[in-house]
Amino acid sequence: MSTELDPTQETSRSDDLVAAFRAHFGDDPILVSVGPGRVNLIGEHTDYNGGFVLPIALKRDVRMAVRPRQDRRVRLLSVEYNAAFDFDLDNLVNNPSAQWANYVMGVAWALAERGIALVGMDVAISGNVPRASGLSSSAAIEVAAAMAFLEAAGQTGALTGPEIALVAQRAENAFVGVNCGIMDQFISVLGSENHALLIDCRSLDYRLVPFPENAGLVIGNTKASRSLAGSAYNERRAQCEEGVRLLQAALPEITQLRDVSVEQLEANKQLLSPTVYRRCRHIVHENQRVLDTVAALEQGDLARVGQLMDASHASLRDDYEVSSPALDAMVNAMRSAPNCLGARLTGAGFGGCAIALVPAGGEQSVADAIFERYPKTTNIWPEVYTTRAAGGARVEKIGA
Ligand code: GLA
Repeated sequence: MSTELDPTQETSRSDDLVAAFRAHFGDDPILVSVGPGRVNLIGEHTDYNGGFVLPIALKRDVRMAVRPRQDRRVRLLSVEYNAAFDFDLDNLVNNPSAQWANYVMGVAWALAERGIALVGMDVAISGNVPRASGLSSSAAIEVAAAMAFLEAAGQTGALTGPEIALVAQRAENAFVGVNCGIMDQFISVLGSENHALLIDCRSLDYRLVPFPENAGLVIGNTKASRSLAGSAYNERRAQCEEGVRLLQAALPEITQLRDVSVEQLEANKQLLSPTVYRRCRHIVHENQRVLDTVAALEQGDLARVGQLMDASHASLRDDYEVSSPALDAMVNAMRSAPNCLGARLTGAGFGGCAIALVPAGGEQSVADAIFERYPKTTNIWPEVYTTRAAGGARVEKIGA
């Protein structure tokens, strides 16, 4: 089983990155910024409906070694892609042939849009969040970039954590061109060790929820392609908006599905097509499941948390229709381990990862069940990670 990084390895990752910076730029960086990936415990597709989510930050992250410059140039080195890209802060234009650099350029663009005065910098980038796997490597690079730009420009206090998350989301929506919600960037900035984060995606109020010490998490990466994810994601968003528009005939006060109770949806289902009704049913129940999960975690009732995760997966599969044969196979393999308390797809769906809850110490038996069953059903070799809730974004001063 591949496991999360222990603290010793984390230090050596920054050391390796600093060495790569030196070799490429011929000078020392002054800081390393870190943006973690995330896994969502429950609350899927609720963020863009103004609802609730409950993610944790991962110990896997994107980090950037940085040296500010006197001019407006930004020179990037990607260690994993073995590629370099330069841009000017006064000429920020999406470049389709360097997608990884667009995340950094987009953040500069979104910070400038907020009136933050930036300086140029030399940057070496390295990440170990699995890419295109539903663990938010995009949010991780955006947040690491935002932390780097703010620190390099002496502007760390200029934005609050939620504001940094909004800047990173704006970069992804308007510069990179992906219509995501706020969850991924928010948890990447504001995650906290050993805690999940309950986020109200409308007000952006948030609350740390202690993640019980006797609980363990296993992430199964289907390694299946997510080719449908972009178009279907936008289609689901549009169907939710249509649901709101149609329900407003009877419920004029609602502005998002967040405002609709289970009873109101049932009383007005005749206003909706069968498909739009099922999409709305997922969102309305999923919001409640998030709140029920928080209560169960606070009561230490892990069996109940597991049941809610199972119900979330069924709803994502049957009502929201964002699961896939590979995700269903992964969830079934996880649940075949006798100690598995519950499992569900996590992230946007159509591929990527699933997450299982087990009593702490029981992770290996879920991993064994995945390796035993999943390849037989899908012909794909998966990856498995264990995780604990990690801290959010940070800046390490070199030599400090
Ligand atoms: C992706 C998006 C998030 C959220 C999830 C689904 O990860 O980036 O904003 O909508 O899908 O819950």
